[in-house]
Amino acid sequence: MKIGNIELPEYPLFLAPMEDVTDPSFRHLCKHFGADMMYTEFIASEALIRDIAKSHKKLEITDEERPIGIQLYGHNIDAMVESTKIATAVNPDLIDINFGCPVKKIAIRGAGAGMLRDVPKLLKMTAEIVKATHLPVTVKTRLGWDSDEIIIVELAEMLQDVGIQALTLHGRTRAQLYRGSADWETIGKVKNNPKVKIPIIGNGDITTPQKAREAFDKYGVDGIMIGRGTIGRPFIFKEIRHFLDNGTEMEPFTVMQKVEMAKLHVKKSVEYKGERRGVNEMRRHLITYFKGLPDFKEMRLKLVTTTEPEKVLELIEEIGRTYGSFQFSLDK
Ligand SMILES: Cc1cc2nc3c(=O)[nH]c(=O)nc-3n(C[C@H](O)[C@H](O)[C@H](O)COP(=O)(O)O)c2cc1C
Repeated sequence: MKIGNIELPEYPLFLAPMEDVTDPSFRHLCKHFGADMMYTEFIASEALIRDIAKSHKKLEITDEERPIGIQLYGHNIDAMVESTKIATAVNPDLIDINFGCPVKKIAIRGAGAGMLRDVPKLLKMTAEIVKATHLPVTVKTRLGWDSDEIIIVELAEMLQDVGIQALTLHGRTRAQLYRGSADWETIGKVKNNPKVKIPIIGNGDITTPQKAREAFDKYGVDGIMIGRGTIGRPFIFKEIRHFLDNGTEMEPFTVMQKVEMAKLHVKKSVEYKGERRGVNEMRRHLITYFKGLPDFKEMRLKLVTTTEPEKVLELIEEIGRTYGSFQFSLDK
């Protein structure tokens, strides 16, 4: 599969952009376990232009992460064009536009999924961004604003016509937020529209190798993108690839393997974000790495309340000593 001139393997696996999750420390682990394409967390165009430090920091990418896309969002066309130029200067492999974020303060102001309510503006913005960069431009969006406005089948054709080179679809409406289940039938409809030639990447609720296989086989998508299923489980990419290649499940990762992963993740997170944020923003991963361990309540509490990196590393080692021989079952 190709996006512009980016070559991806057969059945490509994408790491979803996730704010405060897919920072360089987590991307390092996902890449190690076989993510084929990754993105930065979304970056507010206006903040980038105003030179806000936190937004600029999100532009940091390295060659080992390639292919990698920078994702931008905003409601103002000029600001989106300007920020596209700033992002292009960092030399990512593509620019992705976020037309899917459902968060109230973003969508109600007309950015993210809010753009789905003004299709002419959405198309004009996309066309201007395509003109503003030599890089491939892709879009990530939802099915529509709500169940009365499922516009994605027509919108996909229109986005293709203004020059995007791939479309990622999260199979929910804005109104659904993260509720209910992703509607893969509609993702399949977009993919199987003969007029749509650009790659379609399906997204929503992929948490197991079996669901990944089904997305490819039943709905025919060109790639799949995984979000929440990677949190505390960056190795899901390896599990899926193994299943796609062999039709069997891998042995579950051991506690000691997870201990090593968690330690590396803490170290990289602190390196990137500093001690306080580095530890805070790691927590949701930490808990998930060790989910399923028996009598874990007390340790879990310590993991979510300890703030010094050295102490967190010690706790993780203690988990190794206490549970080293524990066997995880195949996690469905
Ligand atoms: C914590 C969190 C942060 C997210 N941040 C972004 C973001 O920055 N950009 C984006 O396009 N989607 C974002 N999303 C949506 C995911 O990329 C993805 O579309 C959604 O979670 C559905 O996929 P999943 O079921 O595999 O999680 C975020 C989701 C979560 C849970």
